[in-house]
Amino acid sequence: MTISSRICFITLFISAVILGLNGRASAVDVSHDGRALKIDGERRIIFSGSIHYPRSTTQMWPDLIKKAKEGGLDAIETYIFWNAHEPVRRQYDFSGNLDFIKFIKTVQNEGLYVVLRIGPYVCAEWNYGGFPVWLHNMPGIELRTTNEVFMNEMQNFTTLIVDMVKEEKLFASQGGPIILSQIENEYGNVMQSYGDAGKAYINWCATMAESLNIGVPWIMCQQDDAPQPMINTCNGFYCHDFEPNNANSPKMWTENWLGWFKAWGNKNPSRPAEDVAFGVARFFQTGGTFNNYYMYHGGTNFGRTAGGPYITTTYDYDAPLNEYGSLSQPKYGHLKELHDVLHSIEKILTYGNISTIQYGNSVNATIYSYKGNSSCFFSNQNSTSDARLKYEGVEYIIPAWSVSILPDCKKEAYNTAKVNTQTSVMVKKSDDDGVNNLQWSWRGEELLKTLHFEKGQVSTNHLLDQKVMNDVSDYLWYMTSVDLKHDIVHSHNMSLRVNGTGHVLHVYINGKHVGSKWGAYDTPDGNVYQTKVQFKKGRNQISLLSATVGLKNYGSHFDLVKTGLPGPVEIISTLDDETITKDLSGHRWSYQNGLRGFDKKLFNPTSTISRSNNLPINRSMTWYKATFKAPLGEEPVVADLLGLGKGEAWVNGHSLGRYWPSYLAGSCSDDAKPCDYRGKYSPEKCATGCEEPSQRWYHVPRSFLNEGDNEIVLFEEFGGNPTRVGFRREVVGSVCGTAYENRTMELSCPGRTVSAVRFAGFGDVRGSCGNFRKGSCTSKNDALSILQECVGKERCRVEASEGVFGSTDCEDGIWKRLVVEAICS
Ligand SMILES: *[C@@H]1O[C@H](CO)[C@@H](O)[C@H](O)[C@H]1NC(C)=O
Ligand SMILES: *[C@@H]1O[C@H](CO)[C@@H](O)[C@H](O)[C@H]1NC(C)=O
Ligand SMILES: *[C@@H]1O[C@H](CO)[C@@H](O)[C@H](O)[C@H]1NC(C)=O
Ligand SMILES: *[C@@H]1O[C@H](CO)[C@@H](O)[C@H](O)[C@H]1NC(C)=O
Ligand SMILES: *[C@@H]1O[C@H](CO)[C@@H](O)[C@H](O)[C@H]1NC(C)=O
Ligand SMILES: *[C@@H]1O[C@H](CO)[C@@H](O)[C@H](O)[C@H]1NC(C)=O
Ligand SMILES: *[C@@H]1O[C@H](CO)[C@@H](O)[C@H](O)[C@H]1NC(C)=O
Ligand SMILES: *[C@@H]1O[C@H](CO)[C@@H](O)[C@H](O)[C@H]1NC(C)=O
Ligand SMILES: *[C@@H]1O[C@H](CO)[C@@H](O)[C@H](O)[C@H]1NC(C)=O
Repeated sequence: MTISSRICFITLFISAVILGLNGRASAVDVSHDGRALKIDGERRIIFSGSIHYPRSTTQMWPDLIKKAKEGGLDAIETYIFWNAHEPVRRQYDFSGNLDFIKFIKTVQNEGLYVVLRIGPYVCAEWNYGGFPVWLHNMPGIELRTTNEVFMNEMQNFTTLIVDMVKEEKLFASQGGPIILSQIENEYGNVMQSYGDAGKAYINWCATMAESLNIGVPWIMCQQDDAPQPMINTCNGFYCHDFEPNNANSPKMWTENWLGWFKAWGNKNPSRPAEDVAFGVARFFQTGGTFNNYYMYHGGTNFGRTAGGPYITTTYDYDAPLNEYGSLSQPKYGHLKELHDVLHSIEKILTYGNISTIQYGNSVNATIYSYKGNSSCFFSNQNSTSDARLKYEGVEYIIPAWSVSILPDCKKEAYNTAKVNTQTSVMVKKSDDDGVNNLQWSWRGEELLKTLHFEKGQVSTNHLLDQKVMNDVSDYLWYMTSVDLKHDIVHSHNMSLRVNGTGHVLHVYINGKHVGSKWGAYDTPDGNVYQTKVQFKKGRNQISLLSATVGLKNYGSHFDLVKTGLPGPVEIISTLDDETITKDLSGHRWSYQNGLRGFDKKLFNPTSTISRSNNLPINRSMTWYKATFKAPLGEEPVVADLLGLGKGEAWVNGHSLGRYWPSYLAGSCSDDAKPCDYRGKYSPEKCATGCEEPSQRWYHVPRSFLNEGDNEIVLFEEFGGNPTRVGFRREVVGSVCGTAYENRTMELSCPGRTVSAVRFAGFGDVRGSCGNFRKGSCTSKNDALSILQECVGKERCRVEASEGVFGSTDCEDGIWKRLVVEAICS
């Protein structure tokens, strides 16, 4: 062990020298002090963004990373997804979009750094938080604590990943792009529930990580007591109040939640760009120097990778790059501008002296001074009233809940509330005007055996937790039979009561479907289902199908939360005043893991799903298949699955993920509209898509598609209507340009042209994109006719000044701006 690691070290050293001689990537020294990360001895400001490699495709990576770089990022962050890589113990998968080495090299090719959060517990709204379920089933194991079995497995996998990275020389210490690595994840949030062992475990994590000798710093997020030399970092919607636990640790924000995830039945979270920018500016005002956006590109939970329970297939996250990789404007552009301004004063921010002036009413000025140069942050944390502050004899107006940045302490270069980037309204365009004439064939899932003969793969005398089946399928049949005597059956008031766990339960009695029950993200546990059933005298067959919708990924001891049917399962019979309860939990239960259609790989394009007559609508447990031509062009493609119930969809054998368009989002609280970015964000605030399907559109990456014929296969679990299914392209439908006075407005319809200008005004424009109106004052010249020059162009630039639009009669204190709404086609 010792000898081989020495040899390793020597080899490493030699190759570093050789690399140096070749003039190729040479080692970069990454260190830190209490102020910032230091790269080759220089303090740096780092903007990073999370892009998880399995949530897109290898073909998408270069474009996503390029856009991240253009958005002003210095680094890309990703987790490592243990259960994706080691689905079966010691059998690994690093193929396709699981090739994380290729992902890191793609980032390196763009000249960006990498932050590698190994975990290997990652949360991430990913199935079981990234833990393989076989881990849970190892004898004697306890996860995330000082348990030998667990620690061996965690160390084994972590070492494997580190060794793979070292082999490819991807740590900065080897000339690679990785400047930071993370061990464990948000353990501080749950540590207390593990007692003293929790603290011992986190110390072990630190020692184990250090022993891997990666040559770059390790971080631990949300770990207030991180042992040295681990850097503890902050995750949250805001982190300006965060202080690390050691004078030598810089103030770092590993997860700046610039949006939020979505669950089935929930609305679209949307966090305004003004508020995200406010959080970032406040962080840098208060000494922060490292900011990672979670997520910069959220992407898609393909296959069965969504966590939860109840996390949707889309993991858009309201990120600057939307699920399909398109710019989400204005968020992308507004943050890019912020990155540029902060980068321009990197030296001052990381080396300057800091002083603060308090003006009261939540208004502060922070001045950074370095060698005679100063930069200022003027912040107003009051969420309702704008502030006037005087600095060096000049008065400045700071809008409520905003920060102004003045790189020279004289001229405002950026205010977080003043967006100078267009809003792009994306639409799903159909090539055939929405006429979806796919020719469907179908076949039913084979249910006969599971409904009538109770012999499955395994039998027990109790109810099993579904996790014992290693999570190779969402589906598990629980089957038993019961002999009922006359005394119980002669009641006409009988029911079956099942205590489930709130994923999905389908109940079949004597071959007939008698009902189904499902839960929601917020109420997944202890879902008792009771339904009236008329049992017969003699033998009755009970077949219960449990379907999971993503295993829990967060919380203390989340790994132990029950899945499937914990029971009891009871027959209740009432006659007159007498109630007889028959508990079936201790019966002989037989289990069938998965569904036949999955075993037969009906989702593959070559499968036989061939019945074409009497296409059934609203038939549960049904496979459908159709052939289609891919939409032309390069734009992202989505499948419109409106009309379907719940199930899974595949294109050419690639799983698009679980679908559930029949699950509608709740209604909007008053909090949600109209959206006011001012004040603390919460996921309910500013949400959209109320009472609409929580997910109607499903990403079909271009690389899944062939030029000629393509096959779509659906497994419909609830019953739905496939005839409405179709494919669309995502394009920019309209844009709303905006620029404050003396700034240049840029309007662009990427890949399309401006076909009409619907609104234009210079002055005090009110409202938001889609319903602008003129306010108290407007320019002399007609903005609408001036903006006609944009028509027919893909992009145009117009200066928002009185020189162009003529004088306005606006009162003092009004921020004049040019606002334009244009149609793209
Ligand atoms: C992981 O465990 C296997 C045995 O299960 C062993 O062969 C392998 O060397 C271990 N890997 C590491 C990196 O320790
Ligand atoms: C915000 O300003 C208003 C008006 O000046 C004041 O009443 C309120 O207390 C302030 N709130 C905070 C949190 O400072
Ligand atoms: C203003 O600055 C002071 C001193 O740094 C700090 O204690 C206070 O929390 C700040 N308040 C706001 C609202 O930024
Ligand atoms: C910071 O302030 C101290 C004390 O006022 C001064 O000695 C030092 O030169 C200043 N440093 C910079 C970089 O301005
Ligand atoms: C100070 O600002 C001037 C003008 O922006 C710039 O040329 C100079 O490099 C700055 N000095 C330092 C030490 O940053
Ligand atoms: C049927 O039995 C349940 C108790 O199991 C009782 O609450 C209910 O009132 C009964 N219904 C009728 C119609 O008797
Ligand atoms: C249902 O199961 C849960 C989880 O095992 C348990 O906590 C709860 O007590 C059960 N409820 C009933 C009514 O038995
Ligand atoms: C589909 O069938 C179920 C019962 O099998 C019924 O409750 C539901 O209303 C039907 N839905 C539609 C859209 O027809
Ligand atoms: C815009 O420029 C004009 C002319 O230079 C100047 O009078 C005006 O104050 C500027 N407005 C703003 C908001 O900077």
